[in-house]
Amino acid sequence: MAKIRKIHAREVLDSRGFPTVEVEVTVDSKKESFGSSQETVTASAMVPSGASTGEGEALELRDGDRKRFLGKGVLNAVRNVHEKIAPALLERDFALPVHLDDAMRDLDGTPNKSKLGANAILAVSMAFVKAAALAKGTTTDQYLASIYGGTGTLLPVPLMNILNGGKHADNGLAIQEFMIVPAGFEKFSEALRAGVEVFHRLRKILHDKGLSTGVGDEGGFAPAISEDKPHEQALTFILQAISDAGYKPGKEIFLALDCAASEFGNPEGGYLFEGKRLSSNEMVAFYSDWLQQFPIISIEDGLSEHDWAGWQFLTEKLGSQCQLVGDDIFVTNPIFLKNGIERKVANSILIKLNQIGTVTETLETMKMAAQAGYNRIASHRSGETEDSFIADLAVATDCGQIKTGSASRSDRLAKYNQLLRLEERLGDRARFAGIRAFYRAGKFN
Ligand code: PGA
Ligand code: ZN
Repeated sequence: MAKIRKIHAREVLDSRGFPTVEVEVTVDSKKESFGSSQETVTASAMVPSGASTGEGEALELRDGDRKRFLGKGVLNAVRNVHEKIAPALLERDFALPVHLDDAMRDLDGTPNKSKLGANAILAVSMAFVKAAALAKGTTTDQYLASIYGGTGTLLPVPLMNILNGGKHADNGLAIQEFMIVPAGFEKFSEALRAGVEVFHRLRKILHDKGLSTGVGDEGGFAPAISEDKPHEQALTFILQAISDAGYKPGKEIFLALDCAASEFGNPEGGYLFEGKRLSSNEMVAFYSDWLQQFPIISIEDGLSEHDWAGWQFLTEKLGSQCQLVGDDIFVTNPIFLKNGIERKVANSILIKLNQIGTVTETLETMKMAAQAGYNRIASHRSGETEDSFIADLAVATDCGQIKTGSASRSDRLAKYNQLLRLEERLGDRARFAGIRAFYRAGKFN
């Protein structure tokens, strides 16, 4: 049981310099060494924010007051925590996070958390999990593992977004994320080191070509590559960086894409890609060619969230060769995911807590995905904070993969650093997911 004694919210800033919600939750903690005296513990959490958001995401409540932070203030969400959520939860005992999350969902009463704001609700939900873990004398990852039923010992493969395009950069690349996947290693820390070394090699390649080495929102480089096939050029640079760092592409380090295709999908159908207007089938043909040319093991949002028929075709054609990840199309929502499983759309799901708005529903979606044989990737947002909750979530749920950006910017490194701590703490019990995490991808079976 964790009785809530205090809830305090404030407006803080995310990695893009826009406001977000931070919440501190204080709960009772009966420490036996203190006899019967009542102690309390406090934990805090901050919520992230996306740029290429799916339409079905839970509502991020922004003030819209143009005089503050260009309308992006979150004082209304903060007020909702103080004036609506806290009075409903204070002095109540919640045995499990699901009870607290259900209470907030009831209080909100809308399907997309639009009354109280998903940013208000999620901050309380995450902070409660952390506080309850402390009260039980355990850590967030191990507490979450006990709730989820995971082993809490599997370190995820990092999907590191070292070259940024799309909405996260101003460089004309339609594809949003070019990731390296150091899966062919024995330990998480070795995989991470390899990825970081490749990142530094890529910097040198870009610099020597006279291209910008400035970074985009997720810490990857954002060069303006003006070839007629800029995406293939980007992939070629990355392959070169892997070799320059002394690693074997397609054996130790693989490639992954997040196309975020909802952003370049045309509302009337079709896709504006590399100066041409392409159909869904033509996009699939593009990806199919790339799978032949490059060691790509994962493609996220290859088609738009509105193109379910195209997604079915994509999954039928490439689903046995490659991990196909639904982000915008599923928005971490069990209802959308169920539909996707039934219609054979994608074979994997991106997991973002703030798309759905509570820890409990996030775990529910992860469980449903696991039971359907879909791979799960715990993910950051492009607007992040120093909160490393998703690192704990990834280990707690044995999901085997994490997407948390490049090897620069502390908002991204905070998650990798937490995973290093967890690996160290687990000691001999730590396992690294490795290439097995991608086993659904046919060519690795
Ligand atoms: P977002 O980008 O946080 O801007 O949505 C990340 C992603 O699309 O995976
Ligand atoms: Zn995405």
